[in-house]
Amino acid sequence: MRQFVICAHEATADSEFSLDDLPGEGGRMDLLCRAVGAALFTSHGIRDARVHLVIEDLTVQFDGATARNLNPDARSTAARVRDALDSRADAIGHQPATVSPGVKLYRTGLATTLDRLDGTLVQLHEDGTPLATVDPPANPVFVLSDHRDFTDEEATLLADRADQRLRVGPRAIHADHAVAVTHNWLDTDGYTDYEG
Ligand SMILES: C[S@@+](CC[C@H](N)C(=O)[O-])C[C@H]1O[C@@H](n2cnc3c(N)ncnc32)[C@H](O)[C@@H]1O
Repeated sequence: MRQFVICAHEATADSEFSLDDLPGEGGRMDLLCRAVGAALFTSHGIRDARVHLVIEDLTVQFDGATARNLNPDARSTAARVRDALDSRADAIGHQPATVSPGVKLYRTGLATTLDRLDGTLVQLHEDGTPLATVDPPANPVFVLSDHRDFTDEEATLLADRADQRLRVGPRAIHADHAVAVTHNWLDTDGYTDYEG
């Protein structure tokens, strides 16, 4: 399975943000929700992929295989994030709160979230090894930042834990676009198979 971990840096962990102001009150919740959409949706379907949105010491998990009534627009994804943040009292220890089918809230930050994910850990970074020069791993867990650089703490953690550090192209692009490029790399088995 493909998994994407997105490290948020400005997003509010307060569930009271307005769905009419995702960039401002939501703390760039718009771009985070676009990244969730890029990870989960195809043109008329949903992928068997998981997204872990890390906001401070909370992680909202979206599971494409079990999600129901999830729509591709950022506003409806943000509504699920808001519901998840609102359910934190129901998450106890490492047991998540189930927010809706396919959406869970864990009371864990980045390090503990990475502890429970199986697969090849790949940091997506503008300075990494070019994607096209390596073979796609079987069960990749891609870690991305939002519109800011990884913090020093995140960078140190990933330098220690990541199996690979890959770049998708020569320029820094938006996180949702980096997710789309990565899916394409996997969909084509490393740009070799366009029949699927
Ligand atoms: C908008 S970029 C981060 C901002 C950028 N570090 C800066 O401050 O200019 C969002 C994230 O998408 C991923 N990303 C963007 N461009 C990439 C590239 N060319 N190769 C690999 N990952 C990329 C990285 O995880 C990055 O942290």
